[in-house]
Amino acid sequence: MKIDPQEISIQPQDGEDWDFEAVWRGQRVGYAWCRLQDENLLIDDIKVEDDHRVPWSIMNAFLISLGILSRKRSFRKMGVGNRLLDQVIAKAKNNAVQNIWGSVTQDDIDRVPYLLAWYQRRGFYVTEPDDNYIKTAVKKIVMKL
Ligand SMILES: CC(C)(COP(=O)(O)OP(=O)(O)OC[C@H]1O[C@@H](n2cnc3c(N)ncnc32)[C@H](O)[C@@H]1OP(=O)(O)O)[C@@H](O)C(=O)NCCC(=O)NCCS
Repeated sequence: MKIDPQEISIQPQDGEDWDFEAVWRGQRVGYAWCRLQDENLLIDDIKVEDDHRVPWSIMNAFLISLGILSRKRSFRKMGVGNRLLDQVIAKAKNNAVQNIWGSVTQDDIDRVPYLLAWYQRRGFYVTEPDDNYIKTAVKKIVMKL
């Protein structure tokens, strides 16, 4: 089944942290979890599902057995990550945030080899981690607003 990206909405979540969810037909298919630290915003995690399991039902099981429906769906490369980041950046700008930053681990890069380029194309620069970064970080990404 082809997924229409227009059916995916980006929804800000209530709470102290700045969390956004990408929702498709009532299911969470991506998220950006962020925390404000004085005038800086930390992206704790951003993810778009690439192995989202189809909910179990007799009909789905039947369609999967016929090869009409695949067991897992990917929501990547449809602009969802971009839309999550857009909302994070817009909220940061509206709240006088000065920097948006995050840690990138070797595991992240191994899983998504184009990850650093992905951030760079969206206006982040890549530099070496410092003491503020998680121990496993091999790079930090920073956007100055
Ligand atoms: C990084 C990540 C969030 C990107 O999510 P995504 O939804 O695939 O990202 P986008 O679709 O916005 O962008 C991916 C590419 O798809 C392309 N794209 C955008 N809209 C598209 C569309 N409608 N059709 C086809 N391709 C499209 C974009 O041009 C982009 O290509 P580019 O990087 O060459 O510019 C995702 O790969 C992920 O979850 N990775 C694992 C978790 C992770 O590593 N998180 C970061 C921790 S630091």
